[in-house]
Amino acid sequence: MNLQIAGNVQGFKQQEGILTIKTAEAEARVYIYSPTIIRVNISKNFNPDDTSFAVVRQPLADFDFDESSANIDITTSALKLSIQKSSLRFNFFTAGGISLSEDDARFGTNWQGERVTCYRRLFEGERFIGLGEKTGNLDRRGAAYVNWNTDAPNHTPDSDPLYKTFPFFIGLHSGLTYGLFLDNTHKSYFDFGASTDEETSWFGADGGDLNYYFFGAQGVAKIIEDYTWLTGRMEMPPLWSLGYQQCRWSYMSADEVLNIAQTFRKKQIPADVMYCDIDYMDDFKIFTWNKKTFPKPKQLLDKLKAMNFKLVTIVDPGIKVEQGYKEYDEGIERDYFAKYPDGENYTGYVWPGRCHFPDFFREDVREWWGAAFTALTGPGVEGFWNDMNEPAAWGQNIPWLVKFGDKFMPEVRNAYGMQMARATYEGTRKILGNKRPFVLTRAAYSGTQRYSAVWTGDNTGTDAHMLLGQRLVNSLGITGMSFVGVDIGGFSGNPTPELMVRWNSLGTYTPMFRNHAIQGSKMREPWEWGKDNEKIIKKDIEQRYKLLPYLYSSFYQSNQTGLPVSRTLAIEHSFDENVFDERFQNEFMFGDAMLVVPVKSTKLTEDIYLPKGSWYRLSSNEFYEGEQIVNVSAPLTDLPVFVKAGSIIPMQSVVQSTNEKGDGALQVHIWNGNEANSFIYYEDDGVSYDYEQGVYYKRVIRFDPVNKSISLSAVEGEFKSRFMQLKFVLHGFGGIGLKDEIIENKSGEVEVMLIRA
Ligand code: GLC
Repeated sequence: MNLQIAGNVQGFKQQEGILTIKTAEAEARVYIYSPTIIRVNISKNFNPDDTSFAVVRQPLADFDFDESSANIDITTSALKLSIQKSSLRFNFFTAGGISLSEDDARFGTNWQGERVTCYRRLFEGERFIGLGEKTGNLDRRGAAYVNWNTDAPNHTPDSDPLYKTFPFFIGLHSGLTYGLFLDNTHKSYFDFGASTDEETSWFGADGGDLNYYFFGAQGVAKIIEDYTWLTGRMEMPPLWSLGYQQCRWSYMSADEVLNIAQTFRKKQIPADVMYCDIDYMDDFKIFTWNKKTFPKPKQLLDKLKAMNFKLVTIVDPGIKVEQGYKEYDEGIERDYFAKYPDGENYTGYVWPGRCHFPDFFREDVREWWGAAFTALTGPGVEGFWNDMNEPAAWGQNIPWLVKFGDKFMPEVRNAYGMQMARATYEGTRKILGNKRPFVLTRAAYSGTQRYSAVWTGDNTGTDAHMLLGQRLVNSLGITGMSFVGVDIGGFSGNPTPELMVRWNSLGTYTPMFRNHAIQGSKMREPWEWGKDNEKIIKKDIEQRYKLLPYLYSSFYQSNQTGLPVSRTLAIEHSFDENVFDERFQNEFMFGDAMLVVPVKSTKLTEDIYLPKGSWYRLSSNEFYEGEQIVNVSAPLTDLPVFVKAGSIIPMQSVVQSTNEKGDGALQVHIWNGNEANSFIYYEDDGVSYDYEQGVYYKRVIRFDPVNKSISLSAVEGEFKSRFMQLKFVLHGFGGIGLKDEIIENKSGEVEVMLIRA
């Protein structure tokens, strides 16, 4: 196989905001998107149809550069890219000239056949975080990964690849941060010094261009903000989707679904969502209902609605080959399915048996798919679970010869699930009018946050999977996916009662809180674990509902800045080595204020690390100084959760579903601290897109430790808060006699001063 290197610069020109550099072997294009984002695209055969599934922004129209005999230099207010002419190398520096990331001096970018790779210098002590849904440690140094969306049942805490592709990582060294997004949907590779001599890291793809975006902002949060500026941010989720979700493969009949929903209400365990897995369909035909077991879908939905429940139904991409089945007939007639090069439709086996696969890369196919959801929305479904969209087929080996339009599968496989989720989102958004659909997908590519939530697929009911799941959630958050869940309890196997309880406690602090289990497993609902455990599970689900005002405001942050709800400590404490210690790497911030420590179900005490700041244990108000390792109690009734001193957490009283009005009191909890703090409180109707037109309620709550005052900014937006009363609940003010004193502020408008006792 031929090895080609990018070679020496022979000439360059700048036109329409693109600096094009030619060598004998390749062409490189440089674009500037913002002072902190520079795109480099190195190709052998540049395709002028320069499209991206991920990127939603345009480059700047023009920029300056300097040329010397050795280099072409581009300088922004934040970043300097120095392009070495011979041999062609791309080296990034801070505006002050400190090296952030450099091509390896020996190899740079090269091709082995069609595979393109870029070798880069590995810095001393350099760490890497990101890549989304990848197993292994928080710090990816010394590990290598492949992106190839894969149905991964029975995956282990070491399996790779899994279901999703996010070719975006953040590098940390010398107190500096940078990010790199390889926007290439071919099978791609990232090696963070796994098999080299501690000098080189490399990344590349089996085909296409070496097309990357370099992020030079300082601070991980700022890089995430830039990455989600480039690839889009999530919409506000429907409020109901933040409630507790109960799923199973499968509740086998409408009666069973209703019965489970009724049991939640009878036992007063809050919940919002029931699911129908594949068995609600007639013979697994998408957009049908089983006439025997789900004879009157509208009646089912009406009854659920009367109990304040929403229903989410599953859809898979595989369309059963069966004449007379509407979607099959239409797909054949209109030529909507993936094909072999001779024009024959590709057939693979999935749940319904022989299936064809819609070509979601075509707009007309996406529209057709989207419009078909009336079969589900008609009776009242508002949530749509997209599964098996890697795409999966039994045998896992869809031939590489299969084509989607003019592209062979290897080029676009990693984006297939994202395009299915997009078709589902766009279609259901249109049908539902001004209502927000809830879309959940298993396969994804960068940018999927614009359309859908994700879950991490078929995990197993073990402690190791619970801890892995948290790392996956935290890592997905780095790559723009804030609305993320895992199968609480583990999809396969049967968790012990202790593990179920522990995992449910963690579920309270998981952006999407869904209990799900494989066919044939023991029932998993909260009352299946004995009376005592039921009580703990109920209390934790109640805690979730209490936290909804805080959680919703945290999702607003994701909507505004891209910062995820579940945040690895590496976002804020990027150069604190304890954060990367395997003992502590699963800890995370849930929003701005809460630090959550996942603990195995077999451990009742745990060594934990509290980073910089001071902390209070949520359950006891016990005070801890940060930057220390402490051993804390971790009984099954009390997962270790800490609140940062100075934090502001708005809560509400327990409701049984998000559709319940509640008692109208917003309880603003404040934990004493030495540093001034503020919290952006956000609320809207939780249902519609009116918030995009300014119909929301937003105000800043401020805590001033010097004057011991709390103040509220004027309200922004046109929405009337559903809370009529504000209560301030104070923690840790004991020394000045204000412990847990409640001050009411009925108008919600005036400044509230805390009075020293
Ligand atoms: C896949 C999904 C799982 C689902 C099952 C049946 O394994 O990952 O969540 O329950 O298919 O539809």
